[in-house]
Amino acid sequence: MPGLFITFEGGEGTGKSTQVARLAERLLVQGGKVTITREPGGTPAAEQLRGLLVSGETGRWSATGEALLNYAARESHLTDLIRPALAKDHVVLCDRFMDSTRAYQGYAGGCSMALIDALEEGVVGATRPDLTLIFDLDPEQGLLRARSRGDSEDRYERKGVDFHRRLRSGFLDILDREPKRCRLVEAGRPVDDVSNQVWSIVSGRL
Ligand code: TMP
Repeated sequence: MPGLFITFEGGEGTGKSTQVARLAERLLVQGGKVTITREPGGTPAAEQLRGLLVSGETGRWSATGEALLNYAARESHLTDLIRPALAKDHVVLCDRFMDSTRAYQGYAGGCSMALIDALEEGVVGATRPDLTLIFDLDPEQGLLRARSRGDSEDRYERKGVDFHRRLRSGFLDILDREPKRCRLVEAGRPVDDVSNQVWSIVSGRL
């Protein structure tokens, strides 16, 4: 199985993490080498930046500040984990990546898209995902699910439902603009149905 970079995107409480784990199991059964990772995070330096981003006051950073912090974390992640894993022909499953910056900081937060384009070009460069699964769910339903987890990484969950509606339409716009790279996953369906949809998309790309 050759290296492949697959990213999982979507709003809060869409069940991405469960599906990352389920897809990894299926790939391992097929004999693939799999790296599971997440953003912000994935390296010790990036995990430290994550701590600054996902907790505390909602207004702690501006959308522009968040984009810069996420890109500092992403640069470490790409250099120290993602590119080396792809070079060893791993299938890299990444729970959030560059589209989260575009959706959360750009579409929902109001950060300049020109700045986000420049960061994407300069930091991600040629390491763009081969496939991006966009998990789509009504934001009110997603926020309910996310809140029921009750963890402390809830800074974005507290941003209010209008923020989360802009976020959802941002992800759908990304999907419209890049139909070759991005595929929609209907995240409101039963978890086994979602896994089967994910597998049918991914196995078509292997
Ligand atoms: P998680 O809850 O999916 O683990 O992600 C952490 C939070 O970080 C989530 O609320 C989305 C947010 N985030 C951004 O705002 N911009 C980004 O670029 C990334 C990667 C995540």
